[in-house]
Amino acid sequence: MTAIETGNSHADRMDRMYRTQRHFYDLTRKYYLFGRDTLIRELDVPVGGSVLEVGCGTGRNLALIGRRFPQARLFGLDISAEMLVSAEAKLGRPGRTRTVLRVADATDFKPLEFGETGFDRIVISYALSMIPEWEKAIDAAIAALNPGGSLHIADFGQQERLPRLFHRGLQAWLKRFHVTPRKLMATVLKAKAAKSGDTLEFRPIGRGYAWLFVYRRSAN
Ligand SMILES: C[S@@+](CC[C@H](N)C(=O)[O-])C[C@H]1O[C@@H](n2cnc3c(N)ncnc32)[C@H](O)[C@@H]1O
Repeated sequence: MTAIETGNSHADRMDRMYRTQRHFYDLTRKYYLFGRDTLIRELDVPVGGSVLEVGCGTGRNLALIGRRFPQARLFGLDISAEMLVSAEAKLGRPGRTRTVLRVADATDFKPLEFGETGFDRIVISYALSMIPEWEKAIDAAIAALNPGGSLHIADFGQQERLPRLFHRGLQAWLKRFHVTPRKLMATVLKAKAAKSGDTLEFRPIGRGYAWLFVYRRSAN
């Protein structure tokens, strides 16, 4: 597995940040990346269906998805080759696992890079808040869905119903990790669904601490 060799500063930044953090990532993030387990529980993967996680990081979610849906075919992409070292260690090395992992940019990938024409389920968990061109990542994910497939997103909300001081403190702290909660995520997803005749479910959890979305592509 090789890093994206384009001098892409975002890829470099992610690698620099996760080179060390990946070793304690799973342990620490369980205290503040809420909604991931709800998202996984509600995936409802068809038997033999394909699931791609965009920005899969250490492979924590893919491992749980594989346990819950043992018949699913699993795929993961991340721009950080460092993160995928941890994912490989967790999910097995290429060729000896049913999980296919690739270094790729969420804003510019195609299912054919994974040998698929599309995916039945795509998961983006706490990655859009780290992707500068996050709308492009949403477009690429929707384009990679099979007809009737669904895109499941969990990410930071605007903490709209939490005390203002907590909101400010959290936003400042997240900034140190290159995280920017996407204020317009619901608006953007809603517009895309309306334009394409698809449907969108939106649910804030923890008084707006996190947002969950399910974008369902129409069957034709
Ligand atoms: C906060 S972590 C989330 C990891 C995992 N999805 C989870 O829920 O634990 C964000 C991940 O997104 C990846 N990422 C950031 N920008 C990306 C991009 N443009 N394309 C693909 N992955 C990206 C990072 O390298 C990192 O692994």
